[in-house]
Amino acid sequence: LNIPDLIRKKRDGAEHSRAELEGLVLGYTRGEVPDYQISAWLMAVYLRGMTPRETADLTLVMAESGDQMNLGNLPRTVDKHSTGGVGDKTSLILTPMLAALGLTVAKMSGRGLAHTGGTIDKLESFPGWTPELPEERFLAQAREIGLALVGQSRDLAPADGKLYALRDVTATVDCLPLIASSIMSKKLASGAHTVILDVKVGAGAFMRTLEDGRALARAMVDIGTRAGRQVRAVLTDMDAPLGRMAGNSLEVREAIYTLRGEGPEDLTELCVALAVEALAAYGEDEAQAEARARATLRDGSALERFRAFVAAQGGDGALVDHPERLDVAPGRAEVLSPASGFVERIDALSVGRAVLALGGGRERKGEAIDHGVGVELLRKPGEAVSAGEAVLRLSHRNGRGLETARALLEEGLTVTATAPAPQPLILDRVN
Ligand code: URA
Repeated sequence: LNIPDLIRKKRDGAEHSRAELEGLVLGYTRGEVPDYQISAWLMAVYLRGMTPRETADLTLVMAESGDQMNLGNLPRTVDKHSTGGVGDKTSLILTPMLAALGLTVAKMSGRGLAHTGGTIDKLESFPGWTPELPEERFLAQAREIGLALVGQSRDLAPADGKLYALRDVTATVDCLPLIASSIMSKKLASGAHTVILDVKVGAGAFMRTLEDGRALARAMVDIGTRAGRQVRAVLTDMDAPLGRMAGNSLEVREAIYTLRGEGPEDLTELCVALAVEALAAYGEDEAQAEARARATLRDGSALERFRAFVAAQGGDGALVDHPERLDVAPGRAEVLSPASGFVERIDALSVGRAVLALGGGRERKGEAIDHGVGVELLRKPGEAVSAGEAVLRLSHRNGRGLETARALLEEGLTVTATAPAPQPLILDRVN
């Protein structure tokens, strides 16, 4: 294969064969094709796009570029992916619900970067909890409890890691076939039969409009279907943070309240909706699936799975029964309402950036974070508030980042005289 010929082919808008994509992507992963040629090719893809077949082949080539998890012996496996949001602790609630429903979650999760959180960081709010399990233990735990969560192995879809880094510095990140193939390559390599996607749309999300979100969801569902998996996507609002807490320990607390059936409505409804998708993918009637999913939050069965899971990976299960003992930074500050009326907007991106400023997130991979800091929404969009009343409460450590966080939150808050129209959380479904 002649690389300049392949670049020219894409530059002129033609479709690559699978063998050509292997030559480009595997050649690059092995270090045989240089950055400058792949940079040119990525830009050609950015400008010319890819057909659905080509996107699916690119995804498979990336998925097969490294280790692939074999979950073949586990019953009814499900993976879940969120395209990233603020206050999104859904995985902490949904995965033990799925386990309680008789499905198996043997999943790799990520850490947070910039304003978006990550499940592994949240779980590390439990002292001693580890995201590293040898493969045999990972599979055994998934079989016994129905739930095992580990950090991303370095050998999973290495082609994606390398391509993503290059996209980041060549202005080719925001390209639909490249995003869809990047996300799905990791999901395919992770081995689950069913994948539930939560595609976030709005101010705090990668996809700003419903139209873009739908296109991404369709592309990912199409890739999964072509690869023989069951993939279902739900499009959900991410203009405002999900639930009332943002920041690692605070989010774990809120997840536990939700597992007890005492969570905020938006978060509870989203977890139920995603669980219904997972059960429906295994052929269950939707009305029955919904009733069964809700029951796991009432009867304590999801909470019990979560406690067992935390303990199995080295955390203190007693904290699940006493979430108030999770470390939350002792400093408190509040953002007050500038007027009487209704909260119109609490911008998710501002809240995410505020948590980052307080030390609860990282700008670069590998940086340590403070699990105890965060932001609590005392009022959510649509709720009434009086002038001078607290809308947001910050938990900070010795004032670190407090003024920056406060300025971001004030900037992201709008209060209006009339009640805003209620915003639906679940915007669409694609399967
Ligand atoms: N997340 C990914 O994993 N890849 C992308 O390209 C974008 C978001």
